[in-house]
This record gives sequence, structure tokens and C-alpha cells, in this order.
Amino acid sequence: MDAEAATPPPARPLILDVDTGIDDMIALLIAATSPEINLRGVTCVAGNVEIHHVARNTGKLLRMVGRGDVPVSIGAARPLQRRLRTAPDTHGPTGTGYVELRGEDRQLGTTEYTAIPASRYLGAHVSRHPGEVTVVALGPLTNLAAATQQGVDLAGATREVIWMGGTLEERGNTTETGEWNACVDPEAAEICLKAGSIHRIFPLDATQDVVFAMDDLAALPDTHLAGIVRDAVRFYVGFHQQADGINGAYLHDPVVLIASLLRPDLVTEQVTETLACDTSSDPYLAGSLYRSEDGRPTTSVAVAIDPDGMKAELIARLGRAVSAPYS
Ligand code: BDR
Ligand code: CA
Repeated sequence: MDAEAATPPPARPLILDVDTGIDDMIALLIAATSPEINLRGVTCVAGNVEIHHVARNTGKLLRMVGRGDVPVSIGAARPLQRRLRTAPDTHGPTGTGYVELRGEDRQLGTTEYTAIPASRYLGAHVSRHPGEVTVVALGPLTNLAAATQQGVDLAGATREVIWMGGTLEERGNTTETGEWNACVDPEAAEICLKAGSIHRIFPLDATQDVVFAMDDLAALPDTHLAGIVRDAVRFYVGFHQQADGINGAYLHDPVVLIASLLRPDLVTEQVTETLACDTSSDPYLAGSLYRSEDGRPTTSVAVAIDPDGMKAELIARLGRAVSAPYS
């Protein structure tokens, strides 16, 4: 093998926007421990749980895999115009199912919480490194919309902006046609779609191709952190059994992280759409994506994923994350 072939490509600079959240938790653990990713920062947004839970969970999880060095920025505590709704039935009272992650734990060190709010953190970071940073948003788009409103050219100044959100043909998980991240802050989704701030979307059509059962997690090593992940996912599976009648759970956020950045070959179908988000006052319609004809920018939408390949990849990466020295 020649020297050039043996050199891995440089790790991809990433800012992850999360509302941690059981599936966000798994995405975060994988992002923080995958050698192909250079995790430059994590921005927090209220969604699955209130912002103080998101910030605490995020900081603690990073410390548990020895990544207290990653800056964590606290962002929007509520949607742009609407009252915050959270999902304790889906993610548990503090966002991690049956587990409660407490902040204090001296031997894990400290988290780099930055005083710069998320929208400004995003703006400063992408303008300092034009074309370099990828942003993966795994929650409501409040922080990204605020940055867009502040004049940040997310589409032009980043390498790529990717969002887990919305649904095209799949039944919604919040309303009949609405997905959670879009429904929590429809105005934010609409601002980002209209401005062309999102390059690629992974809606439920893609993320619900893979069902993770508790048995799949049996392959994880026997560490403290693996126990935490199992207890969190057990709660998530209980919710999905009731809500969707499936014997397992959809791990939307880590599926998106892996399919977008780490194993793009696992995306088996992609379409180009011109999308808008309904912002009406009708709670049954707000948050639904629809095809727009107002000449706004197009977005690439992943609509199918290889389920077996994804399951194997996610479990392998999660296994490595929960084996990290501090876990
Ligand atoms: C999305 O909503 C949240 O509950 C999950 O964390 C995921 O980002 C799925 O609809
Ligand atoms: Ca999420």
C-alpha cells in the first residue's frame, strides 16, 4: 500500500445542534468519538426537553466520553413565536428516559460552556472558517433561524447544513402530516427553508426505515455508559410500542448523522424538492412540509436508507463510544 492511500482524509469539522433527547444522546456520543469527525462545538436548543436539561445532558455526555474540551453553547429556550412544547412521554422527564444525568461529577472534569448564545456562536464560527464547517441540526430549527435572521449566510458560509426534520409521504409523528422538529418551531423551519439555509433534509421517510430493538443493543460492551444508553433506549422503545405499535424504536438523530457524514452510501434514494413549512395557527397543519412554487431554493431530501447496513454501522460506532476510557 503506498503512503498516500494509507493517509485517512482530514476529520470533517462539525457543529451539532441538539435538543438532547434520547436519540440526540446517541448521535452526540457517536459524533464525539468518531475519528472522521472534528467536533468543533455543540449548540443546544429547547425541544424534546427544556433548555437547561438539554445543556446539562449534552455537557455531561461529552464529559463521559472524555470530550469536555468541546465547546457547548446554550441557545434558544423557546421557539421563535410559539409556546415551547416538550415531549416527556417520548424522552422522559429530563430527556434521557429512565436515567437522570446529574451535572456534578468531579472526576469527569468540566464542560466548556461558552457564554456566546448558539445563533451567534454559529455565526461567528462559520464566518471565521468560510466553507469549512458542516452543521447537522437534530432538533427544532430555532437556533439556525435566529442566525439566519441575524444575517448569517448559513448556506453560503458552510460546507453543508443538514437537518433531521419533517416528513413527505410518511405519517407524521406529531400531527398526521407533521414531524416533531418541524412542529415545535414551524416559523423557524419556514425561515430556513425560504432562505435556503438547509442543503439536505432527512425526514421520517428516511429515518423510519430502521427499527432498533433492545436485542440490537445486546452487542454493546458492558460499561457504565452502555447501561445508561440501554436504560434510555428502553424508555424510548416503550413509547414507540405504544405510539407506533413497533417492537423497537426509531433512532432518528444518529441515523441522520451516520447517513449524512459517515456512511453516505447507506442513503439509497434521494430527491430534490422545493419545500415550505406551514406556519398557520391551525395546530393540525402547522409544521407540515409542503411543496412550494414561490421560486425559493431547492433542498436535497434523503427518502430511503439501507436498514441492515445502518443498524450494523450504528451499533458498531455506539459500541466504540460507550467503551471510551471515561465511560
Ligand atoms: C425528532 O424529534 C425528536 O423527538 C427526536 O430527537 C428527533 O430529532 C424525530 O421526529
Ligand atoms: Ca432531536
